[in-house]
Amino acid sequence: SDGDNDYAIDMSDTGFVLLAGGKGSRMKASMPKQFLELRGVPVLHHSLELFLERLPTFLKKEGKSPPPFVVLVMDPTYQPEYQPIVDRYKNQLAFANPGVERQGSVENGLSKLVELSGGQCQYAAIHDSARPLVTIQEVCHVVRDAKEYGAAVLGVPCKATIKESEDGSTVLRTIPRARLWEVHTPQVVRIDTLQRGFAKVEAENLEVTDDVSIVEALGEPVKLTLGEYTNLKITTPEDMDVAEAILRERKSAP
Ligand code: CTP
Ligand code: MG
Repeated sequence: SDGDNDYAIDMSDTGFVLLAGGKGSRMKASMPKQFLELRGVPVLHHSLELFLERLPTFLKKEGKSPPPFVVLVMDPTYQPEYQPIVDRYKNQLAFANPGVERQGSVENGLSKLVELSGGQCQYAAIHDSARPLVTIQEVCHVVRDAKEYGAAVLGVPCKATIKESEDGSTVLRTIPRARLWEVHTPQVVRIDTLQRGFAKVEAENLEVTDDVSIVEALGEPVKLTLGEYTNLKITTPEDMDVAEAILRERKSAP
C-alpha cells in the first residue's frame, strides 16, 4: 500500500454477494472449507467481517458511502448457525440458497440482492468466501474499475509457465505466459449486464466458469484490476497453512 487512502470510493450502488455454498470436496475435511477455522474464526468470517465492518468503517471515515447490502449464499443446513449475525445486520444482510454449481449460487445471490435493494444497487460484487485474504484496497480498486468499464475482476499476471494438454499426459503447447492472468474475486459487474448475460448463457447453453465470462460472452469489456498475489483461494489443506502465515504476518506489521 502507498500509505494514503485515495482509493476510497462511493459504494452506495454496490451490493456484495458472498459465496459460501460450496462443498469443498478437494479439501477433504469433515465440513465445507468456508467453515474451517483460520486464525480463530471460520474462513468465511474474514470476508463477511470485511464487507459488514472493516470496509464500511473505512469508507465512512473517508466520507464515502458503504455498500448497502450483503447477500450470504449458504446451504440451509448451516443457516441457523448464522441467523444471529443476519439478525444483527437486519435490512443489510440476507441469506440465499446455493445452486448445484457456483453459477447457480451466483444467480440465487443476485436475485436476492435485486429483491433486497429494489433498484438501489447497480453493481454486484461477487466474492468467493474461499478467498479470505482480500483487502479493502483491492475491493475499492475493483469496484472503481467496474464503474468505469462496466465489469472488472481482480487478478494477477501468471507467474507459472502453463502448458496445455489434450490427452492429459503429453504437452500440446505452451501458452505464452506474458498474456496470462490468474483471476481472483471480487468480480464486479453491472447487474443489468449480468442479467442479460444469464439469459444468453441459458438460451445458448454456454459454459461459463466465472461471473465475468458471462460479460465476455456478451462481447463486452472486462477490466483486469491488478490485485495481490496474497489473495489466494483456499482449495486444499496446504492453502490453510499459507493463509494462516500471511494473516500472522499482517497482524504483526506496524
Ligand atoms: N460455491 C458456491 N456454490 C457452489 C459451488 C461453489 O457458493 N455450488 C462457492 C464456494 O463456497 C467457494 C467459491 O464458490 O467459496 C469457489 O468455489 P470452489 O473453490 O470450487 O469451492 P467448492 O466448490 O466448495 O470446492 P470444491 O470445488 O473443491 O468442491
Ligand atoms: Mg468447486
